[in-house]
Amino acid sequence: MVDVRTIDTSVTLFGRKWASPLAIAPTGHQGAYHPQGELAVARAAKEKGKLMMLSNVTSNSVEDVNEARGEPVWFQLYASEHWSSNLKMIERAERAGCPVLILTVDMVGASYRETQDLFMRQDDRNCSACHGEVRSPFRGRPMYDGIDLNAYLDAGVRFDWDLVKKIKDTTDMKLIIKGITHPLDAKLCVEHGVDGIIVSNHGGRSQADSRGTIEILPEIVKAVDGRIPVMVDGGIRRGSDIFKALALGATAVDIGRPYLWGLGAFGQPGVERILDIFDAEFKVVMEQMGITSIDQITPASLALP
Ligand SMILES: Cc1cc2nc3c(=O)[nH]c(=O)nc-3n(C[C@H](O)[C@H](O)[C@H](O)COP(=O)(O)O)c2cc1C
Repeated sequence: MVDVRTIDTSVTLFGRKWASPLAIAPTGHQGAYHPQGELAVARAAKEKGKLMMLSNVTSNSVEDVNEARGEPVWFQLYASEHWSSNLKMIERAERAGCPVLILTVDMVGASYRETQDLFMRQDDRNCSACHGEVRSPFRGRPMYDGIDLNAYLDAGVRFDWDLVKKIKDTTDMKLIIKGITHPLDAKLCVEHGVDGIIVSNHGGRSQADSRGTIEILPEIVKAVDGRIPVMVDGGIRRGSDIFKALALGATAVDIGRPYLWGLGAFGQPGVERILDIFDAEFKVVMEQMGITSIDQITPASLALP
């Protein structure tokens, strides 16, 4: 019995207001799904007013993506022990105007992708015999231009608080850590001056057996205690999932695979359609819940104490 004719789904992150709490998670080499890759995603994000995060293993440069998005995106970095390579990418993103740097910390070693292996192609005939030239989707990673790729890749990774300090001392961009799945790490993020957290297990791609992020979220929200924004990704497939994540304390929610499916199927219009479906579903849930703004969504909305 609430008047829900006007619903405000906006959220504010670092002083910037977004029309909805749904954001686009960083995913690598989108040229693998559609020739326009990240540019198609950026144009869809612009059309639908969505926050976009760009992976450093992008098929398009941060400068081109920012132009397609109409404003600078948030830039995500896989750091390496080879500091000068990290530095080049950080400085380039900052020069391009990116306001936020996302450091992904949940890809520590090689990942074990059993599902992907199950779908591995077994026919070893050369595709180009029937389909013309086959271009590797992994060709061309413009953010690696000018860096010593072998040194960057060979150095491997070591995520620790020294790295966080080094990054913070290097850039004025806000720093978000992506891949937090433990409340103690969340507390340490706050103590080390990190500006935001993304609760994420990389969509289960580093390792398939850990807990679901939606289960972990309330523990992290409690540990952070409102001091910095907490975003979450992993398995968000419905508008109702956005609602549940917000009710459990997330400030905003990110999607990975769903927009890639849209991109692979139809390019920019496919991504737009996916974003529309999420927005429409989320609005219906808000209406049905009798909730007209995001701040009214609380654990009580899920009948939790
Ligand atoms: C194909 C693919 C590529 C990804 N590439 C990156 C990446 O480059 N950087 C990153 O931080 N996360 C990457 N991720 C993880 C996503 O940012 C996100 O955490 C995950 O996809 C969320 O789960 P969902 O796909 O269930 O929505 C990737 C995920 C997928 C599926």
